[in-house]
Amino acid sequence: MTHILSAVAWPYANGPRHIGHVAGFGVPSDVFSRHMRMAGHDVLMVSGTDEHGTPILVQADKEGVSPQQLADRYNRVITEDLQQLGLTYDLFTRTTTRNHYAVVQEMFRTVHKNGYMVEQKTMGAISPSTGRTLPDRYIEGTCPICGYDGARGDQCDNCGNQLDAIDLINPKSKINGETPKFVESNHFFLDLPAFVDALGDWLRTRTAWRPNVLKFSLNLLDDVRPRAMTRDIDWGIPVPLDGWEDNPSKRLYVWFDAVIGYLSASIEWARRSGDPDAWRAFWNDPEARSYYFMGKDNITFHSQIWPAELLAYDGRGSKGGAPGPYGNLQLPTEVVSSEFLNVEGQKFSSSRGVVIYVRDMLARYQPDAFRYYVASAGPETQDVDFTWADFQRRTNDELVAGWGNLVNRTASMVHKNFGAIPTPGERHPVDEGVLATTTTAFGRVGELIATHRQRAAVAEAMKTVGEVNKYVSDTEPWKLKTDPERLGTVLHTVTQAVSDLNTILSPFLPHSAQQVHEAFGGTGTFAPQPRIDEVTDLDDDSRRYPIITGDYRQGEGGTVPAWEPRPVAPGTPVGKPTPVFTKLDDSIVEDELDRLRESS
Ligand code: MF3
Ligand code: ZN
Repeated sequence: MTHILSAVAWPYANGPRHIGHVAGFGVPSDVFSRHMRMAGHDVLMVSGTDEHGTPILVQADKEGVSPQQLADRYNRVITEDLQQLGLTYDLFTRTTTRNHYAVVQEMFRTVHKNGYMVEQKTMGAISPSTGRTLPDRYIEGTCPICGYDGARGDQCDNCGNQLDAIDLINPKSKINGETPKFVESNHFFLDLPAFVDALGDWLRTRTAWRPNVLKFSLNLLDDVRPRAMTRDIDWGIPVPLDGWEDNPSKRLYVWFDAVIGYLSASIEWARRSGDPDAWRAFWNDPEARSYYFMGKDNITFHSQIWPAELLAYDGRGSKGGAPGPYGNLQLPTEVVSSEFLNVEGQKFSSSRGVVIYVRDMLARYQPDAFRYYVASAGPETQDVDFTWADFQRRTNDELVAGWGNLVNRTASMVHKNFGAIPTPGERHPVDEGVLATTTTAFGRVGELIATHRQRAAVAEAMKTVGEVNKYVSDTEPWKLKTDPERLGTVLHTVTQAVSDLNTILSPFLPHSAQQVHEAFGGTGTFAPQPRIDEVTDLDDDSRRYPIITGDYRQGEGGTVPAWEPRPVAPGTPVGKPTPVFTKLDDSIVEDELDRLRESS
């Protein structure tokens, strides 16, 4: 048993999330976490909404509400969407809790005390027409390094380098096109060069990462400069130092605070669980493992900025130092970054209406159909194009005609012939063979999920579905009416095989796994689901918010089945089954394409 932290990227609360977002961080982290719990590990899966910074401010201005009102609105929408998708967060919270503020400020103080927050004068951009500060990411120009002409003030998406807005050639405001004015301003910089050696040593031990992610992360070390961790902005966490704390227009940088969310959410979870130190087993113990799930635009922050914040807190940079009250915090075991999902040949763009919201997907289709699509065809190691035709085909040909059909015909044969799971007679080699196949599939599929190869894992599971379907065709139970003992053996065998497959598929298809469990007479929770609780902020009675949480533990009092075959019990009543998956009519493809055309 290992302590495993599943650290899932924090969606910005500046709008509803689209399916590209949850394909990147949501489904993969949940499949992994569900599997690891079943494999006997102690998993803590945390995240929340990211509610500070420019993205929130800009949208609040657009909608004519305060940033907190905006964040409240979309925190709820996102929470509901993720819960309905069946994502088993132990805690899904938000970055505007008092707990998060306190943890972020403690991190800042210790990093500062260790000498890794350096105050520097900078040139910051302001809008000449409004006098307001113009955040780096809202400035566009030509990259001084590679010459790409759509570079942003914070980063060039073409060469991947971090930039300073003032170095852009021909800078322009993305908000109104004017040329920004640069004025002097004081800021705290994280001394990244003090961690180049420590980061390099660490990254060079990370050989199991996806090659692209590791290569990108190592490349970042070629050009490391101090990076500003404060901003001229009035929405964010105050800088906890004299002379700064009360200055309403200086705040911590949203990315400094957001990544700390993994730690603050772990602490909030522990406090809510009644054992306020329970988070330490996931953070202080060098044997614990941590997996960070995100899209590729977040890699820099998880393989460089966040590890540097942790090293700075621990006092493990070139200037030494000592950890604060949280003790030695461990670096990520793995940054599991996915690539991008496109839609019908285009990049997602909410502003241009090229978008499929999670909410709309879940209103019209089964959550497991979407989860299946992501797990089997998602952007695991390269960009992929979501098309409705492909979604329909996978749902109908693989889920409905493959797995759904096997479940359905097995349950109906058992129901019709025996009304209950039959007692097996002597098994033939073909029976032993199919059970050996499903039994060994546990090992193969489990290994693939544990190493973040979910597409291969689903393929392996579905290949096994095919083999069990073939067993049914080969043994022809419909011709065994006159030989009830043989019929009972075959139907018991296939019921066992279906049960095994249902366990194996349950991390991917938790909603239907519960239905299949019940179709074969199972009771109780088989694949647990998250719930939404309305809670009070632990440090401010006047604030309430929704969280996602749940009871997903294995064993005593727990509900999660182990990652192994569970013998089916002869005599368990099996009723007439109803199909678990819904076949999608051809018309949905045209309807959905029309919707996309209308919105864009
Ligand atoms: N809000 C960021 C985004 O959507 C992701 C933040 S991940 C975090 O790109 F962990 F750093 F919060
Ligand atoms: Zn560039």
